[in-house]
Amino acid sequence: MLGQQRIFSGIRPSGDLHIGNYLGAIKQWVKLQDDHEVVFGIMDEHAITTPHEPAALRENTLETAMLYLAAGLDPEKVILMVQSQVSAHTELAWILGTITPLGELERMTQFKEKSHTLGAKEGTMAGLLNYPILMAADILLYQADAVPVGEDQVQHVEFTRSIAERFNNRYGKTFTVPKAMLERESARIMSLDDPSKKMSKSGESERGYILLTDSPDAIREKIKAAVTDSGKEIKYDPKSKPAISNLLVIFSEFSGKPIAELEDTYAGKSYVEFKNDVTRAVIAGLAPLQQKFKELEKDNDSVLRILRDGSERAAAMAQKTLADVKEKIGFLT
Ligand code: TYM
Repeated sequence: MLGQQRIFSGIRPSGDLHIGNYLGAIKQWVKLQDDHEVVFGIMDEHAITTPHEPAALRENTLETAMLYLAAGLDPEKVILMVQSQVSAHTELAWILGTITPLGELERMTQFKEKSHTLGAKEGTMAGLLNYPILMAADILLYQADAVPVGEDQVQHVEFTRSIAERFNNRYGKTFTVPKAMLERESARIMSLDDPSKKMSKSGESERGYILLTDSPDAIREKIKAAVTDSGKEIKYDPKSKPAISNLLVIFSEFSGKPIAELEDTYAGKSYVEFKNDVTRAVIAGLAPLQQKFKELEKDNDSVLRILRDGSERAAAMAQKTLADVKEKIGFLT
């Protein structure tokens, strides 16, 4: 594996995954697994920074693992781990917290958005503020060179870079300084009922997102109801045609056809015809994943085994970095 780039990324198991998670993250991960050294996590400790149901969390964790596998991640090639099964994550997070200025955490967009929504209802917990520190620990423990994520996570990766640099400057080279890795168009899939907002599993009507597990009927309904833009043209122009541009990206990703080719094919055609074909492409694109998911659902035990094995291998990698950190900051070894 010498010379190969190290990759780390993860998803919070806080509900069903949607096509934004798939196109922004998982689909790129599948491409990376052949020629990179990769660790992908199910970030359950991040999932509890917002209110959650214990039974649902357990179920979502397993379901997220099944979706990783169904999407094509191969446990022979990648390490699939569960964050809470590798205690080095919280240990390193504590240490990194001691070199993180409070102001940097308070400036994070995701913290501001979530604390604003939650603040009025449940109060904002310290875990939500400290969220980016734990995420930095996730990435730095594995000495990742690159972090494939959607656009909404870039600020957290930038934050990780700055903590890594600060630690390295203070204690000597310890961490690889990682880069965010983004797909050009699919890094930000927008909501189907409001293309000014990103597709998201929280705080949105069900019509805004397509779940990876949605039935063909549900997909049909959601795309039919998706908002469109004024005018009739089908062209990629996120500023003046945000809704159609979003559908074009989704269509292109699921059909494998470039956006320019789709623009040509649909020149002069109606929104209805276009939407029907987007629907077909999404249903067909998700079919193999859904089929595999159904098979995995019957075999919880082997999925649990893959996760246990992955977490063990991840822990061995993480432990090396953690031991180095502890030594550098002066803990007894
Ligand atoms: P999460 O669980 O919110 O999202 C998982 C991944 O999906 C991407 N994503 C999107 N991409 C395109 N369009 C969208 N509408 C869209 N919505 C979500 C996200 O950018 C992400 O890549 N904090 C992270 C989880 C995490 C993590 C990490 C990621 C914890 N530790 C270490 C990387 C490295 C999160 O909440 O992602």
